[in-house]
Amino acid sequence: MSDDTAQRNRPDAAVPRHIAIVMDGNGRWARSRFMPRQAGHRAGVDSVRQVVETAGHLGVEALTLFAFSSENWSRPNDEVSVLMDLMLRTLQKESARLHQNNVRIRLIGERSHLSERLRLEIAEAERLTEHNTGLTLVVAVSFGGRWDMLQAARRFAQDVREGVRDPDDLDEALFSGYLSLDGLPDPDLLIRTGGEQRISNFLLWHLAYAELHFVDTLWPDFGAEELKAAVASFAGRERRFGLTSEQVERLSRA
Ligand code: FPP
Repeated sequence: MSDDTAQRNRPDAAVPRHIAIVMDGNGRWARSRFMPRQAGHRAGVDSVRQVVETAGHLGVEALTLFAFSSENWSRPNDEVSVLMDLMLRTLQKESARLHQNNVRIRLIGERSHLSERLRLEIAEAERLTEHNTGLTLVVAVSFGGRWDMLQAARRFAQDVREGVRDPDDLDEALFSGYLSLDGLPDPDLLIRTGGEQRISNFLLWHLAYAELHFVDTLWPDFGAEELKAAVASFAGRERRFGLTSEQVERLSRA
């Protein structure tokens, strides 16, 4: 990797520009309280609220939340319905407040798999908040990192077929522009709650240089303090992007 990559990514930044979160552990949180899994998902929405607010206060530019993966469609039908319904109701309830707080809402994922009602609500929230300049809140729904790379490759191939692009021009920057997070910096920090230590087909392209922060805390127990602790842990890390420590030090003094 070049000096350029390190420079662009501000290796000395104390606050991540972009945080991505795998929100895991709702089911276990509910089970430990002898409650149905959906109670865990509902409690998870409170954590989403706290984390969005705190990320905004910390000056984070973008927050990407993995709300529903391509693979989650294989869960029992009633759980899928509960999650879709929760997403719809949360959007209806929270969009106006997020807009007041200058948050820009964006959805990434396979929209064609979502109900028309949910698609309309998403489009409305995106339209309402599109000119906001504060935190960009990206919600990944029916999303998978492999799906994202495939849809990007398909669209690029289409542009080649139409003569808009030349395959020889394809480089990282150009390919990134076809991916769902186009226009946002790569996540600097990935947080996963719930004790598992894996990426689970999340942002496969974009997490190339992310710092990873795994915690046992179940998602409904994750709030402002846990997010601040994750950011503090990030601030203590040396990000090298393939360079040596000495090179990174020189860059941060420049
Ligand atoms: C994983 O926990 C969590 C999910 C699959 C859903 C996350 C969704 C929310 C928090 C609510 C909706 C979000 C927004 C942005 C409105 P799990 O069910 O896999 O938990 P387990 O591993 O303990 O079973």
